[in-house]
Order: sequence, then C-alpha cells, then structure tokens
Amino acid sequence: MRKKIVAGNWKMNTSISEGERLSAEIVEKSKDVDGVLLIVAPPFTHLTKVADKLRGSRTALSAQNCAAETSGAYTGEVAASMIAETGAAYCILGHSERREYYGETDETLNKKLRQCFAGNLSPIFCVGEKLAEREGNRHFEVIKTQLQNTVFNLEEEDFGKVIIAYEPVWAIGTGKTATPEQAQEIHAFIRKTLAEKFGAKACETSILYGGSCNPANAKSLFANGDVDGGLIGGASLKSDDFIAIAKSF
Ligand code: 13P
Repeated sequence: MRKKIVAGNWKMNTSISEGERLSAEIVEKSKDVDGVLLIVAPPFTHLTKVADKLRGSRTALSAQNCAAETSGAYTGEVAASMIAETGAAYCILGHSERREYYGETDETLNKKLRQCFAGNLSPIFCVGEKLAEREGNRHFEVIKTQLQNTVFNLEEEDFGKVIIAYEPVWAIGTGKTATPEQAQEIHAFIRKTLAEKFGAKACETSILYGGSCNPANAKSLFANGDVDGGLIGGASLKSDDFIAIAKSF
C-alpha cells in the first residue's frame, strides 16, 4: 500500500535556532500521529542541526534542492551525497519557485534526479500548471509533458522511490486552494499517466497535494482516493498547524 505523507517545505524561512525549535516541537506533538510519514525540509544550513532533533523520531528529513553535478568546481552548490550525509533521506526537486526564479529546466531536473538516486536520496518531485495554463484548459497537457520529460526517463527501480507533489502554481502562497474535485481529478490523471509508463507500480506512488493547504482544508483534500497527503509551505512553519494537517486523514 502506498504511504500517506505530510511534508513541510520551509522554503527560505526560520533561523537555525528557530528551525531546531520547530523540529523539536514537531517530534513532540507528532507522537500520537499514526500511519503518516512526516517529512520536514529546512534550508541546507539547518540540516545537521534539525537531523539531531529528529533522531529516533518518526519524522524524516529532506533538502529543498540539490546540485546537478556530483562534486567539483560548482560554487554555491550542494551535492546530493553531502545532503545524505546530514541524515536527510529526501530531496524536493522541480519546485515551481526553482523552475521560475532559478531557471531550472527539465534537462537540469533529469541530472538532479540522477544525483538523488546516486546519493541515496528519494526525490519529492513537483509538477504543476500556471494560472494561464489552467484557464486555457491546458493543465493536463502541461503536467503530462512535465512528467514525460523527467520522471518517464527513470529506471523502474528508481521510479519506485519517487514521491510526486502536484502543486498548481496559482495555489502556492496565494490562499487559493484547488478544490478537492480539482485535486482528485489531476491526481488521478497523474497516476494514470505514470501507469502508462510504469504500469502497476504507479499504484504505489504517493502523490501529494501542495498549494495553500492548511488545517481547515486538508481533510477534504486528503479524503480523495488519489490524494496521498500534502506538501505544505506556510502552514508547515507552525507546529500546531503542521500536526493538525498530519491528523487530517
Ligand atoms: P503554501 O502552502 O505556502 O501555499 O506553499 C506550498 C508549497 O509551495 C510547498 O512546496
């Protein structure tokens, strides 16, 4: 059976000490959260400190990005193997903010996917359409292309380690959430598309919803058969909200 997952993408928020406090609170308050994998994704600088707080708990650690290369003269980059050394097991890839502000292309993402597997990280791979694409009724086509150009290139064994996050760009940080019907429709479409390439293995893939998910709307989103959890931005910065979301299944 596929995993239920609630992951917190902290983006470029919290000082290191705030991040330590937040992760300690999450460990404490998640003790009665059952059957849900919790993941937190702090900034790179926080990873080792947050790993200390998470040790022995059921909350896993993720990075928000990794380098497209293995090592060498790439100033400012952090290799997947370095991330894994901190204790992180996951890495967010292809977030729309990376695509939009840092010019990440499908080609870069293919390299980063390879680095993740070589470095022993499981990718949380984001896809999602922009507002104009949704309004032009092109969202299915856009998401299919994003998957075909990246995840479709994976070996079956590596595909088995991938978590998909559907994040409609128009819903990120806007307070505008996809309706439960919109989420289910796209998640089912993503699973069907993945099944065209990977067959029954797509039934095992966790597909998370991301975009203004909060304690008030999580339950109705997670109630849908193909919504296996959430990738949470703003609401993951408050332990009470994050845990309330994790308890929304
Ligand atoms: P918000 O939950 O703040 O809309 O962010 C979603 C997101 O981008 C998670 O990766």
